[in-house]
Amino acid sequence: MKKQKTDIKALISQMTIDEKIGQLIQLNANFFADSSADITGPWEKLGIDKEALKTIGSTLNFHGADEMVAIQKKHLEEDRNKIPMLFMMDVIHGYRTIYPIPLAMGASFDPETVTECSKMAAREASAGGIQVTFTPMVDYVRDARWGRVMETCGEDPYLNSVMGATQVKAFQGDDLSDRDNLATCVKHFAAYGGAEAGRDYNTVEISERLLREYYLPAYKACIDAGVTMLMPSFNTLNGVPSIANKWLMKKVLKDEWGFEGVVISDYNAVGELLKHGMTDSTKDAAEMSFNCGCDIEMMSITYYLHLKELIAEGKVSEKAIDEAVERILTLKDALGLFEDPTRGASSEKEAAVCLTPEHRDISRRAAEACAVLLKNDGVLPFSESTKKIALIGPFADSKEIKGFWACCGKDDECVSVYEGIKALLPDAEITVARGCSAQWNELDKDGFDEAVAAAKNADAVILCLGEPQKYSGEGNSRADIGLPGVQNELAALCLEANKNTAALVFSGRPLTLCELDAACPAILEMWFPGSEGGSAAANLLFGKVNPSGKVSMSFPKAVGQCPIYYNHPSTGRPKRKPEDVHQPYASNYIGCGNLPLYPFGHGLSYTEFTYESMELDTHELTKDGKITVKVTVKNTGDRAGKEVVQLYIHDLYASAVRPIQQLVAFEKISLSAGETKTVTFEISEPMLRFWDAECKHISEAGDFDLFVGYADHPYIKDTFKLI
Ligand code: GLC
Repeated sequence: MKKQKTDIKALISQMTIDEKIGQLIQLNANFFADSSADITGPWEKLGIDKEALKTIGSTLNFHGADEMVAIQKKHLEEDRNKIPMLFMMDVIHGYRTIYPIPLAMGASFDPETVTECSKMAAREASAGGIQVTFTPMVDYVRDARWGRVMETCGEDPYLNSVMGATQVKAFQGDDLSDRDNLATCVKHFAAYGGAEAGRDYNTVEISERLLREYYLPAYKACIDAGVTMLMPSFNTLNGVPSIANKWLMKKVLKDEWGFEGVVISDYNAVGELLKHGMTDSTKDAAEMSFNCGCDIEMMSITYYLHLKELIAEGKVSEKAIDEAVERILTLKDALGLFEDPTRGASSEKEAAVCLTPEHRDISRRAAEACAVLLKNDGVLPFSESTKKIALIGPFADSKEIKGFWACCGKDDECVSVYEGIKALLPDAEITVARGCSAQWNELDKDGFDEAVAAAKNADAVILCLGEPQKYSGEGNSRADIGLPGVQNELAALCLEANKNTAALVFSGRPLTLCELDAACPAILEMWFPGSEGGSAAANLLFGKVNPSGKVSMSFPKAVGQCPIYYNHPSTGRPKRKPEDVHQPYASNYIGCGNLPLYPFGHGLSYTEFTYESMELDTHELTKDGKITVKVTVKNTGDRAGKEVVQLYIHDLYASAVRPIQQLVAFEKISLSAGETKTVTFEISEPMLRFWDAECKHISEAGDFDLFVGYADHPYIKDTFKLI
C-alpha cells in the first residue's frame, strides 16, 4: 500500500476502547440510513445501543451513492474521531452493467476479458459509493450440486488462481486512493466449495494434503497479488468452523503466508459458532473469533457485547485490538478516505457511468467470450438470411439472465434472446413460444402444442432452456442438476418437428444434459451472461462471433457422478474407456461411465484448429532449469476464431499419487482463417511441486507426460524427465 497520509498510531492513541471496538463491527446500511427513527429499529432488534452506532467502522448492503453519501456525512458529524466509514458490497460480476457469472468468466480462459470487466465494475461501483468489494471468490469446486459454483472460476486450481489474482489487480489498480479502484476481499477461506454432498454451508472434511494441493492455492495467489481483505468461510473445516480454526487462521494464513490485510467474518458467522455447537456463549464466540484473527465482525455483535470484558479478564489483549484497528484504518487511509470520504460518489456520477453503451459493449463481448459451444453437428451458425425463426423454451424472451450476486443489476435491463435476435435480424419473422416453465415443480404441458407448431413452421429453431437464476448462488444447492420441469420433453417434441435446431442453455452450474445432447444437434452454454446476454447469443448463433469458451467445470452425465473433476488420480483399477459398458472389477458405474459428458477444457468453434507440432528444447529438466515448449497451431477452417491452447502434465510416479492430468499453462490466441501461430510455454521445477504424504511441498525426480489438448483429449503428447 502507498505511504500513509494519516498518523494512524496517533489517531488510535486518542480513541477510547469503545471507539476502537466500533471499528471492528460491520452492520447493514439500514442501521444508519433511517437512524433518524426513534429507538425501535434494526439496532434494537439486534441489541446494540443506538448511541454505539456512531462508532461503527463499516457498512454493507446500502443502495446507491446518495445513501452512501448521506450515511458518511452523518457519521462524520457524529463521530468524535472523524474516522470515515468503509462501504462494502458484493460486486461479483458487475455493479449495474452485469457481465457473465465467474464460472463463465473462467470459461473464457481469458484474463484480459476478466481485467476489462473488473475495471468496468470498479468504475461503476465506485461511482455508486462502494470502496471494497467482497470479491474474488476463489473457492475450489468439484460438485455441481453446490449453488455457489457459479461464483468461482471452476475446478482447476491454476485457472482459479490466475483469474482470482487477475481480479485483485484489476479492481485494485496501482493506487487504492484512485477513485476508480476498489479494495478487494478474497473469500471464502477456506474450502467452502468442499461442502459435503454439494449442500451449501455443509461440513467440510478433507485432508491437509488435499487442502494444500487443490483448495488453498487460489487464496494464496490472491494474497500474493495484493488482496487487501480476506473472508473466512461459514463451513467447518475438519471439525472446526473456519473463523475459529486456529490452524487455518493463525498457522496457515498468518504464520506461513504472512497475511497482513484485514480479516472480516462472513455474515453473522461469529454468531453461528453457537449453531455449529462450538460454544453456547456469544462471549466465547467473540473470544475464539477475535483470537483467530477476525478483525471485523459482520452482522453480529459479540465484539460489541464482550470484547471489553474479555480484555478485562486478560483473554483478549488491548494490543491485539489496537493492531486490528490499525489494519482497518490503514485500509481506509490507503483508499484515501480521510481526505476523500465519499470519493466523489454521487447519483449523477452513478447515472453517467453505469450502463453506458461502452459498458454494455464490454459486457456483450465478455458473454460472447464465455459461451461454450458444447456440441455442433453442423447446424450452427444459422444463416443471417434465415426468415422464420422459432424461439422456444422458458428463456426464449426471458430477461432473467443476469445470474445470482448481480449486485445492483436489474432483470429488465438485460437484453433477452428475443430482443437480441430481433435487433440483429429486424426483417426476420420471430415466433416466441415458451412452451413450459423452468421451475422444477411446474410440469404443465399446455404450451407444448403451440411450441411444436412454431417449430414445424420455422426455418430455424432455437431452444432456450436452463435453470432459473435463483437455482444457483448462495443457499441454492440442487440434488438433481438436470433441466428442471418438463423442458427435456418439450425439446424432444420440437426436435422431432424440426431438425434444424440449436439449444441455448442458461445455467449457474454444469447441468446434466445427456437427454438434450442425444437429441439436439447443437448446444451452446450461455451460463448466466448478464446485461447483454441476448445480444451475445444472437451474434454467436448467427455467426457474427465465433464461440471460443471452454468448459471450466466438468459437465456430469449424471448427478450420481458428483463430485466429478478432470484432475483426479488414476486409482488402482482405472476404467477410462469412453463407452458406458460396465467393466467388472474396475472403478466405474454400471450404465454411466466415469467420464463427464463434456470435460474440462472442451469447447468447439465454427472453424477448425490443427495442432501442427509441439517442440521441447530439452527433455531433461534440472531443479533450476526450464523447458521451453513451442506449440504451433493453424486455423485450417474458413473463418477467424480464438483457441485456448492448454498445456497439461502428468507426473507418472511419485510418493503421493498424482492426478492423471493437470493444467499448468494456457493461452487464448486469435487466428484468422489459414493463419498459423506458435505459442511458447515454459516448464520449471516449481510447477511440478506437490504436497507429499507428510505434507511437504516438494518435487521428485522422475518421468512426466506432457500434452496439449483438453482434459482426456491429448492432441500432441511428449515426455520429459525431472532430474
Ligand atoms: C454472504 C456471503 C458472502 C458475502 C456476504 C456479504 O452470506 O456468504 O459471500 O460476501 O454475505 O453479502
